[in-house]
Amino acid sequence: MPVTEAERTALPLAASYLIQQDWPAYSAEQHAIWSELTRRRMAQLQEHACAEYLEGMDTLQIQLDQMPDFARINTLLTPRTGWQLTAVSGFMPGEAFFEMLAARQFPTTTWIRSRDSLDYTPEPDIFHDVFGHVPMHAHPVFADFLQQYGEVCLGLTGSPEKLERIGRLFWYTVEFGVIRQNGRLKLYGSGLISSHGESNYVLRAESGDGGPEIRDFNLDQVLGQEFLVSEMQKVLYAIDSFEQIYEAAHEAERRQKEFDAQRAGLEAEAAENDLTRARRDAAAAELASALVPGDACPVCGSREHPGGAHQAKALTIAMAERAVAATKRAVKAAEQALADATRAAAMACVASPKM
Ligand SMILES: [Fe+2]
Repeated sequence: MPVTEAERTALPLAASYLIQQDWPAYSAEQHAIWSELTRRRMAQLQEHACAEYLEGMDTLQIQLDQMPDFARINTLLTPRTGWQLTAVSGFMPGEAFFEMLAARQFPTTTWIRSRDSLDYTPEPDIFHDVFGHVPMHAHPVFADFLQQYGEVCLGLTGSPEKLERIGRLFWYTVEFGVIRQNGRLKLYGSGLISSHGESNYVLRAESGDGGPEIRDFNLDQVLGQEFLVSEMQKVLYAIDSFEQIYEAAHEAERRQKEFDAQRAGLEAEAAENDLTRARRDAAAAELASALVPGDACPVCGSREHPGGAHQAKALTIAMAERAVAATKRAVKAAEQALADATRAAAMACVASPKM
């Protein structure tokens, strides 16, 4: 069944990447590779994955012995958290990816690695996407966090530096997140869940045998912590609950709105100053245009008036005043936006995540 026009229309930025999963077309070898991958990982994850991940595996009935069927998983996932797996053709540009997250549609690849690269694929495959990511989407707070993250990023698509910063929140949570549960370090990031090598390395930190430095989750630190995709992580951030990252995504959005409103206010103020100056110049020009050569100026008394009359054509007082009024309205709107952002932030602080 092809992707429908309605599905493409609902996701205009991602439309050209949408495909259908052809589950019956998977070969016996592909099912066997999936089975091998899940078998190798589950032994470790039963002990070291966080409780929410293991619950998600159960809730969504993700099968260990055959390739996942998106339509079947969606019948269990969508009624629970509103999320769905949506098949995509592969790598997507940021804005298309964020559009899908904001719509609670998880862009999911349909291909699986070959048997000779069971341990590592440079590009995410269906094992990373479904086995690594999807069980957490059944958790309501994590589900809300991920959508919020998509919305924040969608508003930043014109600002690569800001996207890079906020991308670190995704990296240190969704991809490489760890959580403390019952005094133990547990895994929830998909890059850890789906990789034996990455998990072994991280779990060494728990036994005091090397591994990354584990710090308490801190939004400012996370946003400022650069990472290399190609290396084992030197530092990871442990959360105590998923509410922490839910609140962090809202805090990131609040800061962004406040920053935008402040910048709009400053720009409007600068424009108002420019126009006030222009209005003064125009007033002087109009005065100058009325001067008669040889007569005394009513302001300064001079009988010489070099060049003043010509300036009057450039800008009339009425035009300048209209512009000043428009700018004042813009300043007011910016102030209102700032007040709204501040109020929203205050509400976000007191609101508890949906359970
Ligand atoms: Fe991932």
